[in-house]
Amino acid sequence: MLELLKKLTQTNAPSGSEERLHNIITEEIKDYVDEITIDPLGNLIAHKKGNGAKVMFAAHMDEIGLIVTYITDKGFLKVSNLGGVSPTTALHQRVIFSNRTVGVVALDDTNADLSKGIRLSDLYVDIGAGSKEEAEKLVSIGDSAAFCGDFYANGNTVISKALDDRSGCAVLISAIKQIKTVKNDLYFVFTISEELGLRGAKTSAYSVAPDYAVAIDVTRTGDTPSKLSMAVKLGGGAAIKIKDSSFLAHPYIKQLMKETCEEFSINHQFEVLEAGGTDSGAIHLSGGGVATGCISIPTRYIHSPSEQVDLRDLESAAELAVKMIEKGFNQGA
Ligand code: CO
Ligand code: ZN
Repeated sequence: MLELLKKLTQTNAPSGSEERLHNIITEEIKDYVDEITIDPLGNLIAHKKGNGAKVMFAAHMDEIGLIVTYITDKGFLKVSNLGGVSPTTALHQRVIFSNRTVGVVALDDTNADLSKGIRLSDLYVDIGAGSKEEAEKLVSIGDSAAFCGDFYANGNTVISKALDDRSGCAVLISAIKQIKTVKNDLYFVFTISEELGLRGAKTSAYSVAPDYAVAIDVTRTGDTPSKLSMAVKLGGGAAIKIKDSSFLAHPYIKQLMKETCEEFSINHQFEVLEAGGTDSGAIHLSGGGVATGCISIPTRYIHSPSEQVDLRDLESAAELAVKMIEKGFNQGA
């Protein structure tokens, strides 16, 4: 899991550039599924054929980033956000473009009163170009950049950028490899543009038209010295989502998760996230409605270059997915 997580997080794929992950994911899972397709928007859909109800699992491929809106005469880049970028967090971080050009996110006015808050429009990216012409040799309007954030593992603790949601992708890949018995028609979807509003989940849920669905994504924790009142903690196991701002877990899926964890002694905890959402928000509202749940991975410092997870939580999340699949989704049976 560690090596896979490193490979996935250190691939730079902000929303719109998810195709950079297609080969990595395909290589990992191709021997374990019957068919892999890339849909018109770039969702990677792996089908493991089976009888019975259709079940869709989803993890999003994209990460947050910046996109160039304007290049100044002196060669500095003005940028807009791809997903939830906090200007305060972005300040003085490094970003990297697809051609390996690296820039520093800096503040227009060093005398600005930081206590009053900064906006993304106050920031620029400095790629070391001396002029607009020089900058234009390296980047163009509309080019996107990912935040840099090296991968470190201290025992079970992993620190990296893009753990949102490459840890979900790693969990799903790992689960796909471990499934021994198939009781449903299974679809594993690696979605695009979750960070821009659950876009790939919306369209893939329409095309797959599942009866049941489970999203796998990160969630916040309440175990740091912050004021957040939240029961989820790092190392506390797979988090069974009950609610976030776009979603209430379906009682059947919630119960199946709980029972599965109890039956197989999988370390778990329950999650109520007051702000934020995942692909499950879009999937459960697709078609005539889909019984949906979400397995969350406790993560500190989400949407920063130094997100933090505990490997054991990822392993619990993968085990939960595998055991649910092996038990089978069949409401009312
Ligand atoms: Co996110
Ligand atoms: Zn996410």
